[in-house]
Amino acid sequence: MAIPSLPLLFLFTFLLLLPLLISSSPVQDPEPVVQDVQRAINASRRNLGYLSCGTGNPIDDCWRCDPNWETNRQKLADCAIGFGKNAIGGRDGKIYVVTDSGDDDPVNPKPGTLRHAVIQDEPLWIIFARDMTIQLKEELIMNSFKTIDGRGASVHIAGGPCITVQYVTNIIIHGLNIHDCKQGGNAMVRDSPRHYGWRTISDGDGVSIFGGSHVWVDHNSLSNCKDGLIDAIHGSTAITISNNYMTHHDKVMLLGHSDSYTQDKNMQVTIAFNHFDVDMGISTW
Ligand SMILES: *[C@@H]1O[C@H](CO)[C@@H](O)[C@H](O)[C@H]1NC(C)=O
Repeated sequence: MAIPSLPLLFLFTFLLLLPLLISSSPVQDPEPVVQDVQRAINASRRNLGYLSCGTGNPIDDCWRCDPNWETNRQKLADCAIGFGKNAIGGRDGKIYVVTDSGDDDPVNPKPGTLRHAVIQDEPLWIIFARDMTIQLKEELIMNSFKTIDGRGASVHIAGGPCITVQYVTNIIIHGLNIHDCKQGGNAMVRDSPRHYGWRTISDGDGVSIFGGSHVWVDHNSLSNCKDGLIDAIHGSTAITISNNYMTHHDKVMLLGHSDSYTQDKNMQVTIAFNHFDVDMGISTW
């Protein structure tokens, strides 16, 4: 067999790598995404005064107009707009009801706790049996394909470390009050049924997205955290941050943490319908 010339070898190698190069650069053309959002907003506004529930907010109108939304919670997963639109969370999984506000052992969380729910491997749509305040002992390290759905209860994640979305995908966080978040760390924390690991000191963010994708953070109130309220860094992408109510904030949001971290050039984040307020108090809307 003839040995191919060096330029040919390069060409073959390049052709072999091409699909890899393409699949590793998930940057969508932003223009159709923006158009799509604008269309959704226009459609909702047209329905104002026509649908009694219409607010002109395409996300809210998508699920709230159904008086039986509570029996069809997973419909919410189809209501996102923007770059995080395809985040399905736990849409295709079972409902998991959190009944226990405790977090005694972040390595061996008890069934019924929020931590036990979010570490599972299967898709889960996580809801709450009643109003509760959850003071986490360590960061809540989420596994992929999870929705935390606080609708119908007043759920506070407060006074301890808060939510971390790290190297996982398809996360929806909706309807929570996330506040007074503190640093955690220098501790073991479970992140899946088969794995736990050492966490160094965390920043103390409300929601920290680190190398995450297909993430939708909607309709939460966030305030008074040690560091950012919502940070998305380390190449995180396909994110929508919408309808959140942010008060008592200093750093608010960090999108990309360093100009020299080149993976961040692919980050695509939609920020829409959020309220940034200097008012006192925590919203529970
Ligand atoms: C949405 O409505 C605005 C104002 O009426 C219009 O200029 C725009 O073209 C519409 N966009 C889409 C995508 O329908």
